[in-house]
Amino acid sequence: MFSVSRPRRWRRLFLVLAATLAVLVAAVSGCVSWVYVNAAVSTVGSTEFRNELAVPPLAESRLEPDGTRLFELDMRTGSREFRPGQVTKTWGFNGDYLGPTLRARRGEQVRVRVRNTLSEASTVHWHGMHLPAAMDGGPHQMVEAGATWTPEWTVDQPGATLWYHPHPHGATEDHVRRGLAGMFLLDDELTETLALPRNYGVDDLPVIVQDVTFRGASLDGTHGMFRDVGFLGEQTMVNGTLTPYREVGDELIRLRLLNASTARVYTFGFDDARAFALIGTDGGLLDRPATMNQLPLSPGERAEIVVRMRPGERTVLRSNKLDADLGFWTQRFSGGDDTFDVLQLRAATTLRPSPALPETLAPASTPDGTDSVTERRFELDLKGINGQPMAMDRIDFTVTRGTTETWIVHNRDGMPHNFHIHDVQFRVLAVGESAPPPHLSGPKDTVFLAPDATVRLAVRFDGPADPDTPYMYHCHLLWHEDIGMMGQFVVVEPGGTAGRPAPHHGH
Ligand code: C2O
Ligand code: CU
Ligand code: CU
Repeated sequence: MFSVSRPRRWRRLFLVLAATLAVLVAAVSGCVSWVYVNAAVSTVGSTEFRNELAVPPLAESRLEPDGTRLFELDMRTGSREFRPGQVTKTWGFNGDYLGPTLRARRGEQVRVRVRNTLSEASTVHWHGMHLPAAMDGGPHQMVEAGATWTPEWTVDQPGATLWYHPHPHGATEDHVRRGLAGMFLLDDELTETLALPRNYGVDDLPVIVQDVTFRGASLDGTHGMFRDVGFLGEQTMVNGTLTPYREVGDELIRLRLLNASTARVYTFGFDDARAFALIGTDGGLLDRPATMNQLPLSPGERAEIVVRMRPGERTVLRSNKLDADLGFWTQRFSGGDDTFDVLQLRAATTLRPSPALPETLAPASTPDGTDSVTERRFELDLKGINGQPMAMDRIDFTVTRGTTETWIVHNRDGMPHNFHIHDVQFRVLAVGESAPPPHLSGPKDTVFLAPDATVRLAVRFDGPADPDTPYMYHCHLLWHEDIGMMGQFVVVEPGGTAGRPAPHHGH
């Protein structure tokens, strides 16, 4: 009797265990597939374009007695009804959300009076600007709550679409996501004379793209499950406008695209896949317009495109799926499967004729690498750059003023990253073994790196030298930057050595 019942009892126990395990496995995989399915978002086809696109005002400025152009930027808290009847708490410059567009001309001396009226310290960084390190607005130029910081510099670089945003170490993602960002346009003789659309807010539109999720009265900042890239929102805004449309009255429309999202990579194109001309990248105009119908843009990058409109039509600027050879899982959880209807353009029934685009735009302003004196390697992963997280009191290396270097950046991680260098515009010499595609052929300060990708950059450091104040280089997926994917270098005179950065920030 016993000899029969004991194995039976064991068998019953085994069956119960196996069934429990099966239920558990099913539950877990059910959860995972639920999370997987729900991880992709799309607003394509379901967007009703209800709101007229806001265009950030051009910042007022005045000429000081010494000829300097003075701007004033106040960082403040506010609130806005992005959705009718629903108030969202925000941060902004001189207003509730985002900031005015600063505009200056090459050769001008500019000064910006930055007042921090927030209840916490922050900074304002001039992304893409060539300027002395002490004016850069990185994590060493903290502006305490209630304090004022007044950097000044001479604009000395080609006309371009730059931008500004906070850069406090460890909190950049949060400060930008709440609404602190704006454009900084630079003009020069070429951008003022070439036959390009340049009537701000009319045929030359700033397009600041962000992805957002509303949660109660706040902009959500939660990182979803498996979101190693950081925050990804469920819908997009342009210039702080949800489901935006814009009426246009010219044949050619220039869009200054800025990816001001904290982690999301966009792949811009139009709903009918029409071709458009890329005329500029991060740091200014290309040598000639490049025709394409898709354009990837990772956080921090800018692109100036010109699109031709037909009378009376409507067309939608879209973001399509990312094509970067991400694995099945990473593609989904880093937002690569997401698609968005970003901005609708509504053409008037008669359009003002626009002159044809010039065949050539700007001469090369970045080095070609032939005079490079040093080669440096940067290995990217979530632990930091070259295996080390950022340390405020460690200068990672020193570069010599007036020299060109070759930087080789490799993403050894399983997830996408990008790479941004302060103070400079560089040339992408190669992506892997290949010449750069057209969208990386102009002056760049930020470049996307798919997993295992390598880029070769030619970077020239024109100074001025300041051995004590570093410039940053980092991943511009802002949470990655916050957790330490950042390093710092100083520019020194020939033969000089690095000084010591202040372990605590100055004022
Ligand atoms: Cu736009 Cu160091 O950043
Ligand atoms: Cu920057
Ligand atoms: Cu990264």
